[in-house]
Amino acid sequence: MIIAIDGTTASGKGTIAKRLAAHYGLPHMDTGRLYRATAVAALKAGIPLDDADALANMARTLDLADYQEAELRTAEAGKAASVVAVIPEVRQALFELQRAFATQDLGALLDGRDIGTVIAPDADVKLWIDASVEERGYRRWKELRGQGEDVTLEVVIEQLRVRDKRDQSRKDAPAEMAVDAVLIDTTELSIEAAVEKALAAVEAALARGNRT
Ligand code: C5P
Repeated sequence: MIIAIDGTTASGKGTIAKRLAAHYGLPHMDTGRLYRATAVAALKAGIPLDDADALANMARTLDLADYQEAELRTAEAGKAASVVAVIPEVRQALFELQRAFATQDLGALLDGRDIGTVIAPDADVKLWIDASVEERGYRRWKELRGQGEDVTLEVVIEQLRVRDKRDQSRKDAPAEMAVDAVLIDTTELSIEAAVEKALAAVEAALARGNRT
């Protein structure tokens, strides 16, 4: 079974993905880490974020074990990730890795922006997780403050708007809901309630799939 979980930044997608993967015993890939690691590698090596060939090369030779979770989760890494994610050569370099993960015998759950549309259009279940930009900004602001970053709520919301726009307007694999995905809006939901709703949506989708 393949489960594809896509959605916007700070929508709760990552937590929902982890919990559903544990529930169904599926190997989980957080595909945003691939783009974040590519961006962090480039920043460390002083490679300009528009050097397509050098960035694709970094993406191809990436070893995620070389990166600390904390350095991948900074606001700077997230922003740089969305800049390198626009480049088709980078997306191509990361495609096979994700596709191989998605099609392994054990089944898989992947979360990202283009899993249901590009990486695994054949997924058994597709969810699109979203929330209002204000609520997502508030969540991300709390997280960043917890990490000691000195940033205002207004700035975080504005950064999310810019990131959403960049992710949704790129030509190659824009972040968009697959036509056959189920939308889960977490704006008013606690994380527990969001996970419950996602689980119910997966169960319903599987039941529908089994009938056809
Ligand atoms: O999900 P996360 O915030 O870690 O992703 C960072 C950035 O990586 C996103 O803003 C997006 O530009 C890019 N990304 C992508 N496709 C994916 C996963 C992430 O373009 N499947």
